[in-house]
Amino acid sequence: MQRFAQSLTILCAVTLLTGTADAKDAFDLKSESFDLPTGDRTFIGAGADPVNNNCLTCHSAEMVMVQPKLSKANWEGIVKKMINVYKAPVPDEDVGPIIEYLSNHPTAGR
Ligand code: HEC
Repeated sequence: MQRFAQSLTILCAVTLLTGTADAKDAFDLKSESFDLPTGDRTFIGAGADPVNNNCLTCHSAEMVMVQPKLSKANWEGIVKKMINVYKAPVPDEDVGPIIEYLSNHPTAGR
Protein backbone atom coordinates (compact mmCIF):
# COMPACT_ATOMS: atom_id res chain seq x y z
CA MET A 1 0.00 0.00 0.00
CA GLN A 2 2.83 2.37 0.88
CA ARG A 3 4.49 1.54 -2.43
CA PHE A 4 1.26 2.40 -4.24
CA ALA A 5 1.06 5.73 -2.43
CA GLN A 6 4.68 6.45 -3.36
CA SER A 7 4.08 5.68 -7.02
CA LEU A 8 0.98 7.84 -6.96
CA THR A 9 2.98 10.73 -5.51
CA ILE A 10 5.64 10.39 -8.19
CA LEU A 11 2.99 10.16 -10.88
CA CYS A 12 1.34 13.33 -9.62
CA ALA A 13 4.65 15.15 -9.48
CA VAL A 14 5.47 14.13 -13.05
CA THR A 15 2.01 15.14 -14.25
CA LEU A 16 2.35 18.52 -12.53
CA LEU A 17 5.76 19.14 -14.06
CA THR A 18 4.65 18.24 -17.57
CA GLY A 19 1.46 20.24 -17.03
CA THR A 20 3.49 23.32 -16.19
CA ALA A 21 5.54 22.99 -19.37
CA ASP A 22 2.35 22.73 -21.47
CA ALA A 23 0.79 25.74 -19.76
CA LYS A 24 3.90 27.79 -20.52
CA ASP A 25 3.59 27.00 -24.24
CA ALA A 26 -0.13 27.78 -24.21
CA PHE A 27 0.48 31.28 -22.78
CA ASP A 28 2.99 32.45 -25.33
CA LEU A 29 2.33 36.19 -25.46
CA LYS A 30 2.09 37.88 -28.84
CA SER A 31 2.08 41.57 -29.74
CA GLU A 32 -0.95 42.86 -31.59
CA SER A 33 -1.17 46.21 -33.31
CA PHE A 34 -4.24 48.23 -34.14
CA ASP A 35 -4.91 51.61 -35.70
CA LEU A 36 -6.70 54.38 -33.90
CA PRO A 37 -8.68 56.89 -35.96
CA THR A 38 -6.47 59.60 -37.43
CA GLY A 39 -7.35 62.91 -39.06
CA ASP A 40 -5.80 66.20 -40.02
CA ARG A 41 -8.03 68.46 -37.94
CA THR A 42 -6.60 70.28 -34.98
CA PHE A 43 -8.15 71.93 -31.97
CA ILE A 44 -9.03 75.56 -32.65
CA GLY A 45 -9.63 78.77 -30.74
CA ALA A 46 -8.16 80.35 -27.64
CA GLY A 47 -6.18 77.97 -25.46
CA ALA A 48 -5.98 75.25 -28.11
CA ASP A 49 -2.16 75.08 -28.18
CA PRO A 50 -1.57 72.78 -25.19
CA VAL A 51 -4.27 70.44 -26.49
CA ASN A 52 -2.77 70.34 -30.00
CA ASN A 53 0.68 69.81 -28.52
CA ASN A 54 -0.27 66.95 -26.21
CA CYS A 55 -3.35 65.21 -27.52
CA LEU A 56 -2.70 64.50 -31.20
CA THR A 57 0.27 62.16 -30.87
CA CYS A 58 -1.79 59.02 -30.56
CA HIS A 59 -5.18 59.85 -32.05
CA SER A 60 -7.13 62.50 -33.93
CA ALA A 61 -8.91 65.56 -32.60
CA GLU A 62 -12.11 63.82 -33.78
CA MET A 63 -11.49 61.01 -31.32
CA VAL A 64 -11.59 63.60 -28.57
CA MET A 65 -14.42 65.76 -29.86
CA VAL A 66 -16.91 63.02 -30.75
CA GLN A 67 -17.46 62.61 -27.02
CA PRO A 68 -20.80 63.81 -25.71
CA LYS A 69 -20.76 67.12 -23.85
CA LEU A 70 -18.81 66.35 -20.71
CA SER A 71 -18.34 68.13 -17.42
CA LYS A 72 -15.00 69.47 -16.24
CA ALA A 73 -14.73 66.52 -13.83
CA ASN A 74 -15.30 64.08 -16.72
CA TRP A 75 -12.58 65.73 -18.81
CA GLU A 76 -10.23 65.72 -15.86
CA GLY A 77 -10.80 61.97 -15.54
CA ILE A 78 -10.13 61.42 -19.25
CA VAL A 79 -6.97 63.54 -19.30
CA LYS A 80 -5.67 61.73 -16.17
CA LYS A 81 -6.47 58.39 -17.83
CA MET A 82 -4.48 59.40 -20.94
CA ILE A 83 -1.54 60.29 -18.70
CA ASN A 84 -1.68 57.46 -16.17
CA VAL A 85 -3.01 54.57 -18.23
CA TYR A 86 -1.82 55.34 -21.76
CA LYS A 87 1.34 57.19 -20.63
CA ALA A 88 0.66 60.39 -22.56
CA PRO A 89 3.69 62.57 -21.82
CA VAL A 90 1.81 65.73 -20.75
CA PRO A 91 3.80 68.36 -18.80
CA ASP A 92 2.18 69.21 -15.44
CA GLU A 93 1.64 72.85 -16.38
CA ASP A 94 -0.43 71.85 -19.45
CA VAL A 95 -2.88 69.59 -17.58
CA GLY A 96 -5.03 72.42 -16.14
CA PRO A 97 -5.24 74.43 -19.41
CA ILE A 98 -6.13 71.25 -21.38
CA ILE A 99 -8.99 70.39 -19.01
CA GLU A 100 -10.13 74.03 -19.10
CA TYR A 101 -10.12 74.10 -22.91
CA LEU A 102 -11.98 70.81 -23.30
CA SER A 103 -14.70 71.69 -20.82
CA ASN A 104 -15.23 75.11 -22.43
CA HIS A 105 -15.16 74.02 -26.07
CA PRO A 106 -17.43 71.02 -26.31
CA THR A 107 -17.57 71.16 -30.09
CA ALA A 108 -14.14 72.53 -31.01
CA GLY A 109 -12.42 70.57 -33.74
CA ARG A 110 -15.64 69.24 -35.27
C1 HEC B 1 0.06 58.01 -25.51
C2 HEC B 1 -1.04 58.01 -26.41
C3 HEC B 1 -2.18 58.97 -26.14
C4 HEC B 1 -2.12 60.34 -25.97
C5 HEC B 1 -0.90 61.25 -26.06
C6 HEC B 1 -3.48 60.76 -25.73
N1 HEC B 1 -4.33 59.70 -25.79
FE1 HEC B 1 -6.36 59.78 -25.71
N2 HEC B 1 -6.46 57.77 -26.09
C7 HEC B 1 -5.38 56.93 -26.24
C8 HEC B 1 -5.86 55.60 -26.49
C9 HEC B 1 -4.99 54.35 -26.69
C10 HEC B 1 -7.27 55.67 -26.52
C11 HEC B 1 -8.27 54.56 -26.80
C12 HEC B 1 -8.81 54.07 -25.51
C13 HEC B 1 -9.95 53.16 -25.68
O1 HEC B 1 -10.18 52.64 -26.77
O2 HEC B 1 -10.62 52.97 -24.66
C14 HEC B 1 -7.62 57.06 -26.28
C15 HEC B 1 -8.91 57.55 -26.24
C16 HEC B 1 -9.26 58.86 -25.96
C17 HEC B 1 -10.64 59.35 -25.86
C18 HEC B 1 -11.88 58.51 -26.08
C19 HEC B 1 -12.60 58.24 -24.80
C20 HEC B 1 -11.89 57.35 -23.84
O3 HEC B 1 -11.97 57.65 -22.62
O4 HEC B 1 -11.26 56.34 -24.23
C21 HEC B 1 -10.56 60.66 -25.52
C22 HEC B 1 -11.71 61.62 -25.27
C23 HEC B 1 -9.14 61.00 -25.44
N3 HEC B 1 -8.39 59.90 -25.72
C24 HEC B 1 -8.66 62.25 -25.10
C25 HEC B 1 -7.32 62.60 -25.05
C26 HEC B 1 -6.83 63.91 -24.66
C27 HEC B 1 -7.70 65.09 -24.25
C28 HEC B 1 -5.47 63.87 -24.75
C29 HEC B 1 -4.49 64.96 -24.40
C30 HEC B 1 -4.39 65.26 -22.99
C31 HEC B 1 -5.11 62.51 -25.20
N4 HEC B 1 -6.26 61.77 -25.35
C32 HEC B 1 -3.82 62.08 -25.44
C33 HEC B 1 -4.06 57.28 -26.18
C34 HEC B 1 -3.58 58.58 -26.03
